[in-house]
Amino acid sequence: MINKINTLGGYFHEYQKSISNPEQFWAQQAEEFFWRNHWTQVTDWDFSTPKIQWFVDAKLNITENIFERNLYTHGDQPAIYWEPNDPQRPERVLTYRQLLAQVNQFANALKDEGIRKGDTVTIYMPMIPELAIAVLACARIGAIHSVVFAGFSANALQDRIKNSGSRIVLTADGGFRGHKTIPLKSIVDEALQGLDQVTTVVIFEHTQQPIDCHPERDISWHDFITGKSKDCTAEVMDSEDPLFIIYTSGSTGQPKGIVHSSGGYMVYSAYTFKNIFQYCNGDVYFCTADIGWITGHSYLIYGPLLNAAKVVMFEGVPNWPDPGRMWEIIEKYQVNQFYTAPTAIRSLLASGTEFLEDKDLSSLKVIGTVGEPINEDAWHWVHDHVGQNRCPIVDTWWQTETGGMMIAPLAGITPTKPSFATLPVPGIQPAVVDAEGNELSGNSVTGNLCIRYPWPGMARSIWGDHQRYKKTYFTPFAGYYFSGDGVRRDEDGYYRILGRVDDVINVSGHRLGTAEIENAINEHPLVNESAIVGYPHPIKGQGIYAFVVCPQTSTGGEEGVKQSIQRGVSKRIGAIAKPDLIQIVPGLPKTRSGKIMRRILRKIAEGDATDLGDTSTLLDEQVVQQIIDEALVPVKR
Ligand code: PRX
Repeated sequence: MINKINTLGGYFHEYQKSISNPEQFWAQQAEEFFWRNHWTQVTDWDFSTPKIQWFVDAKLNITENIFERNLYTHGDQPAIYWEPNDPQRPERVLTYRQLLAQVNQFANALKDEGIRKGDTVTIYMPMIPELAIAVLACARIGAIHSVVFAGFSANALQDRIKNSGSRIVLTADGGFRGHKTIPLKSIVDEALQGLDQVTTVVIFEHTQQPIDCHPERDISWHDFITGKSKDCTAEVMDSEDPLFIIYTSGSTGQPKGIVHSSGGYMVYSAYTFKNIFQYCNGDVYFCTADIGWITGHSYLIYGPLLNAAKVVMFEGVPNWPDPGRMWEIIEKYQVNQFYTAPTAIRSLLASGTEFLEDKDLSSLKVIGTVGEPINEDAWHWVHDHVGQNRCPIVDTWWQTETGGMMIAPLAGITPTKPSFATLPVPGIQPAVVDAEGNELSGNSVTGNLCIRYPWPGMARSIWGDHQRYKKTYFTPFAGYYFSGDGVRRDEDGYYRILGRVDDVINVSGHRLGTAEIENAINEHPLVNESAIVGYPHPIKGQGIYAFVVCPQTSTGGEEGVKQSIQRGVSKRIGAIAKPDLIQIVPGLPKTRSGKIMRRILRKIAEGDATDLGDTSTLLDEQVVQQIIDEALVPVKR
C-alpha cells in the first residue's frame, strides 16, 4: 500500500524527513511498488548538465504495478466507469481484470505490427476507454506513447507526429463533444498528407461516420486486434526509460515534447494522487481532464490506477445537454473525489445554482482544481454550493514538466485559503528567486517560482533537444529548476501562484505560447506582424488579445480579415488558440532595437494605461496612443 499521511502533524513530520534525507524518503515510497530489479542508487542528478535519474538501474513495468500488483485484491473491481457524451447512450464499466485483457490484446497487436520498446506511438483519440487501453498497451510493451489532444488541428498534429518520429497513429472515426462531432480520422488524413513516415493508422469505430479509407495504411481497431492473445508479458523497462512524450507550449514557437520516465514518474504520480486526494480504498474518483493533457495522464490514468482506484472517465463537456451534466455524473456514480479546472467551475457558476438543486452530491468528500489560479468567487461558489461547505478544496499547482502535483493541500488536512495552493508536497523544495537569481528567504516574499532539489516525477528531457531542456528550465536561474511562474509566499509560508512570467498564456487552463499564435497569424497574406497578450476573461481566466498590423484589408474589409485570421489560427493550431479580440493597429510599440514592448500591450489589454512604466526606449509614442484610443476594452488612462 502506498504510504498515506493522515494528520497535519504527520505532514510536517514527513515533509521534514523528505527535506533532511530525500533519498531515504523517496526510497521508502518506492519500496511499495513491484520492481523486477532493485535500484543501486536512489538518485543521481546534476542540474547543470542537466542529468536527472531516480531509482538508478532499477527495472520495472508500470502496467505490472497497475494490474498484477493489484489483481488479487482488486481484479473484479471497476477500474473505469465510462460515461458517454450523450446521457441517452449506455455507460461502460471495465474491471481491472477486463482492462488488463484488453490492454494485453492491443499490446500484442502492436507487437505484431512491429512496434517495439522505444518506438513512439501517436494517439489522437476521443475520451473513450480505448484511449486508456492504447496508452497502457504502449506502456505494457515499452513503446513511448505520445497522446495529442483531439482538439488540435491537422497541422498541429502533423508537427507532433513528425517531431516524435512515430510510424503509427491510433485514432477513431470521430469523437463527440457536446453537440459537435469531431471528424478525427479526416483530420489524421490531412495531417498525414505528404508524410511517408506513418505506415499504419488504426481506427476505432466510435461515431460510425463515413471515413475515407487508405487500404495500404488504414486498419480498423477490430481487425487490428482480432485473433490476438489476451496474455502479454510486460516488457522489462529501466527506471529511466521514457514512458511517454507529451507536447506543451513554451515561449518560443515550436511546442516541446516533454519526456517522462518510467520509474520516477510511477512513484510520484501514485504518491501524490493518494495523499493529496486522500484517496481511500473503494472511493470513486472523477477527473474531468482530457487524456490529451498531463492531468489526464497523471490523474486519470497512472496515479489513480496505480492506487487501484475506481475512475470515472467522461467523454463530453460540462454544459451539454445542460449545465447540470457534471452534477448528474457525480450523483450517478456517487463520486467521492472530483478533480476539475477553475474555468469549468466559472462557466457553471454563470448558470447559477438551479442545476445543482435537485442533485444529491452528498457522496463528495474532496474537490480539486488545477491548471490556473482559482479566483475567490469561483472558490466560494464551488465550496458552498458543490462542496456544500463540507468538502475541502485542493488547489493543486503543477505543470506538464513536473509530472505531478507540487504545491497543494492534503485534502482535509492542510488548512486552505482561497486562491492559495498552500504548501509543498513532501519531497518538493520550492524557492522564491529574485530577478538576479538570489533566493529570497523567509515569508512575505514575491519572485520567480523555482525548485531547489529534483523529485522523481520531473521531466527528464525535451524529445530530441536536450539543450532546449537545459536552456528553458535550468539556465535562467543556475542551480534551480525554473517553472516560468511568479509566486508569493505569504506571512504564513503559504504559496500563491501569480501566473506566468514568460510569454505563455493560460486560456481555460490550456497553456498556449504567444509566439505560436503569432506565427499562425503572421502566415496570413495580409498581415505584416502581430503581438499576442493575455487579458482578464471572466470564464476563460485569460482571453487572447491579438494586436495585428495589417495595412490593407481585402474586399471583406476589416471584419473579413479578422475572420480569416481566426480561421487561419484554428487551422494552424486548433480552435483553443483563436483570439478573442483582434485589434488592427498601425504598428506595434517597439524599442529602438526593434523588440516588441509586450509589457505595454499587456497593460492596455488589462485596461490600465495609467502607468506604462519606462517608455524611454520606445521608438514611436504615437503608435501607443493610437492603440489606446482604438482599444477593444475600456482603458483607464
Ligand atoms: O501557470 C501555471 C498554471 O498552469 C501552468 C502549467 O500548465 P500545464 O503544463 O499545461 O499544466 C497544467 C496542468 C498541470 C503553470 O505553469 N497552473 C497550473 N496549476 C495552477 C496554475 N496556476 C495557478 N494555480 C494552479 N493551481
